[in-house]
Amino acid sequence: MSRLKGKTAIVTGAASGMGSAIAKLFVEEGATVYIADIQDDAGEALANELGNEAHYLHLDVTSVEEWEECVATVIGANGKIDILVNNAGIIKFAGLLDLSIEDIRTILDVNVMGVMIGTKTVAKHMIEKKAGSIVNISSADGLSTANALSAYCASKWAVRGYTKATALELGHLGIRVNSIHPGGIDTPLANQMNVSREMFDQGFKPYPAQRAGDPMEVAYAALYLASDEAGYCMGTELAVDGGMTAGHYYHNLPGAPAQ
Ligand SMILES: NC(=O)c1ccc[n+]([C@@H]2O[C@H](COP(=O)([O-])OP(=O)(O)OC[C@H]3O[C@@H](n4cnc5c(N)ncnc54)[C@H](O)[C@@H]3O)[C@@H](O)[C@H]2O)c1
Repeated sequence: MSRLKGKTAIVTGAASGMGSAIAKLFVEEGATVYIADIQDDAGEALANELGNEAHYLHLDVTSVEEWEECVATVIGANGKIDILVNNAGIIKFAGLLDLSIEDIRTILDVNVMGVMIGTKTVAKHMIEKKAGSIVNISSADGLSTANALSAYCASKWAVRGYTKATALELGHLGIRVNSIHPGGIDTPLANQMNVSREMFDQGFKPYPAQRAGDPMEVAYAALYLASDEAGYCMGTELAVDGGMTAGHYYHNLPGAPAQ
């Protein structure tokens, strides 16, 4: 229960879904965690639930000014930032001709610019300490693609590429940057109709796990990459997707599950 003992972490988009699971697990493992989100009520409630080592900060990841304020607050209180999880993200399911230019800009602004502004703002302080871990939440859609998700896929491929470029530039300065590629996790973003878990699972039968994933299954991957245990991981892309990007079954051929 002390894999992150003494560490200070910022987790963006932590008022909901995977971010909230990551915040909870990091606190359990001894970190001081800043839950940074635009959903103030949910973020405050989570911080209260998690106790003294959790704090809520309002942060719109697309705002340079709000990032500066957030980082100043964390540095003021702790003197350092050991871990940044760039998790905040949005999605819109629509065919590419139905996706407005404004939709596309908004998706890229939150999912790509949010990661880049956050990384630039936090890395300055990590460089001073010659240590740090940045974990970027990309997607299975950053390893492959899907229909109705053109801008989202582009944004998540950008996060994957940016992760590797920053891993090079920051790695020799003591900072590790890695990406996680979740797929089919039961959160408000993916399960927008809030259907039962049994029904949500049905969409993932073509893949090896044969079910959706739980936010905590991604949180454990973030814990590993954030911790000193992952000291040799730099620019790594870790799929947590139930095998979605490994392939799919041909049900008429051997080796497929019984239907
Ligand atoms: N759920 C999945 O299956 C899945 C799969 C692959 C990748 N992802 C990625 O995982 C991340 C977390 O998503 P989730 O599924 O937990 O969704 P979620 O909707 O439960 O959580 C996303 C959080 O991001 C916050 N957010 C949105 N815009 C923001 C902004 N401008 N500034 C700050 N916070 C903002 C939201 O308020 C919310 O709390 C996202 O980057 C998403 O793209 C999700």
